[in-house]
Amino acid sequence: MGAGDLKSGQPDVQSFLAQHEKKSLLRCLACGSVDDGKSTLIGRLLHDSKSLYEDQLAVLQDESQRFGTAGGEIDYALLLDGLEAEREQGITIDVAYRFFSTAKRKFIVADTPGHEEYTRNMATGASTADLAIVLVDARQGILTQTRRHTYIASLLGIRHVVLAVNKIDLVGFDEARFAEIASEYRQFTEPLGFQSICPIPVSARHGDNVTVRSINMPWYIGPSVLEQLEDVEVEELSGEGPFRFPVQLVVRPNLDFRGFAGQVASGAIRVGDELVVANSGRQSRVSEIVTKDGPLQEARSGDAVTLLLEDEIDISRGNLLAAPSDRPHVADQLQAHLIWFGQKPMMPGRSYLLRTENDMVGATITNLKYEVDVNSFAHDAAKLLETNGIAVCNFSLQRPIAFDAYKQNRSTGNFILLDRFTNETVGAGLIDFPLRRASNVHWQRTSLGKKERAEIKVQSPAVLWFTGLSGSGKSTIANRVEAMLHAEGRHTYLLDGDNVRHGLNRDLGFTAEDRVENIRRVAEVAKLMADAGLIVLVAFISPFAAERRLARDLMDEGEFLEVFVDTPIDECARRDPKGLYKKAQAGEIKNFTGISSPYEAPERPDIHVRTVGRKVDEIALEIVEFLAGRD
Ligand code: ADX
Repeated sequence: MGAGDLKSGQPDVQSFLAQHEKKSLLRCLACGSVDDGKSTLIGRLLHDSKSLYEDQLAVLQDESQRFGTAGGEIDYALLLDGLEAEREQGITIDVAYRFFSTAKRKFIVADTPGHEEYTRNMATGASTADLAIVLVDARQGILTQTRRHTYIASLLGIRHVVLAVNKIDLVGFDEARFAEIASEYRQFTEPLGFQSICPIPVSARHGDNVTVRSINMPWYIGPSVLEQLEDVEVEELSGEGPFRFPVQLVVRPNLDFRGFAGQVASGAIRVGDELVVANSGRQSRVSEIVTKDGPLQEARSGDAVTLLLEDEIDISRGNLLAAPSDRPHVADQLQAHLIWFGQKPMMPGRSYLLRTENDMVGATITNLKYEVDVNSFAHDAAKLLETNGIAVCNFSLQRPIAFDAYKQNRSTGNFILLDRFTNETVGAGLIDFPLRRASNVHWQRTSLGKKERAEIKVQSPAVLWFTGLSGSGKSTIANRVEAMLHAEGRHTYLLDGDNVRHGLNRDLGFTAEDRVENIRRVAEVAKLMADAGLIVLVAFISPFAAERRLARDLMDEGEFLEVFVDTPIDECARRDPKGLYKKAQAGEIKNFTGISSPYEAPERPDIHVRTVGRKVDEIALEIVEFLAGRD
């Protein structure tokens, strides 16, 4: 017997697995709401399977007196709430892995908090699980959250469920109530096609049907939770499939050694085997497999190794090495199921960072095909995705990456999305398939380039991007700057928000998602114009930092200059050149920037213009001089 507790990523799990090597392993994911008693259930599983160390018990008894909510008895939930801070807050954050074993099997339980906003932890904790323990409170029955967790579990490829109907003591061990919940659950999960669903009436607090069958429910003839975990038949997941090796690191301690370190994601490889770099199509053979414990003849799924190859081919971090006879997809467009946990909604057109196991690339959702209603599984039309939303989307990536469909390979078929500014994880994706549509569109070589086009105009292309509130003076200043540049013989073009919205962007309004698209399009136009050799002036409110960043990233280094036209909103409202502030304040215009829609001021603009008390000519001249100083 052995038990332990570790936060994700610690190495103890290896020694635990080694210790119990011969027994089969069941990976479980526990999900439920905060008060469903999840921690209590897992704590009791660990305790009653007698896998607790004596000294942990002593500490527990002591802490139960101080913090416990079980009236001086042992509070099993405390076993799991590892950190003092979490304990005092009364919630568990982050995924924690618990492991224990019985004579029959060894178990890893990923414990994820049940708050709605922690769906993220569930998606991260579940990606290797075989079985989900879904907790419901017998008094409350099945909630939207139960449905959401169950749906995510099925998306993640989990095929077995234990439905723990907890606090059954609080409904008087009522058989009818249990049957009602079990039947409702079976009904709604039918389209998800789980292989096994085992509803069990439980009192985690008192131990009924947790490890041994309860004497309080003679009407229940099924297994206890632990018995079901021991006996459920699951297909072995790991190790199957073609060889996949995401390169985490290129190891080059000296000129004679060049190895590629990583963990085998699936399949196996032997010395002498051929492999292909999926991203480039280059092939070679394995000459050595090195580990910290010496060389190996063969490496299998899960092994952390360094591979040496016979040929000097170009391989870098982020590449995926694979079996040449069964290759992953390489594409820059794909369809995926997206689970969104960002606090701000996901917006099509906005640029995010997409991270796979070992690679990272800029990505945009080009099409939100539909949102899934977790209560009915209906496909709803949606323009954006709020926190906890689940949708099917098309993605466009900045460059091709190598991947598999999630159904084929869990580890090379999933990704997370990060916010470009905060670096927070805002979504998890499960890849459905690559989209080949765009792959038949190639870049056409042109004999003239930006350089030639600009040279004939005797100028360096630039994009002067004016951002600021409505009425801040963007158009006026940009207009004056263009006139000055023109007088100097420069070739320019001014893209003004109001004007472009009459033509190219006439289909767009002022919702956040429309503004994202508005800026994406004008940024692309500005890029084309810069490519034509022009000095482009863009005067759009462009309220979101993310899209201004996208515009900067589209241009060549040093070409993009952000001009923050900084006028306090009170002053803009006083000037009110188009009478819009008056209307907005009267509630006649919705989503008005600065009033009912946000403006994210630039933190580090290239040029910061405070307009109050200054003359337009003076400001324009300053900008023209800044531009000249750049050449
Ligand atoms: S942006 O936010 O998408 O960049 P853009 O610069 O194209 O906006 O358009 C802003 C112009 O549209 C404003 O100068 C104003 O004249 C007009 N407008 C009409 N409705 C709104 C609104 N709700 N918010 C801001 N500007 C509006």
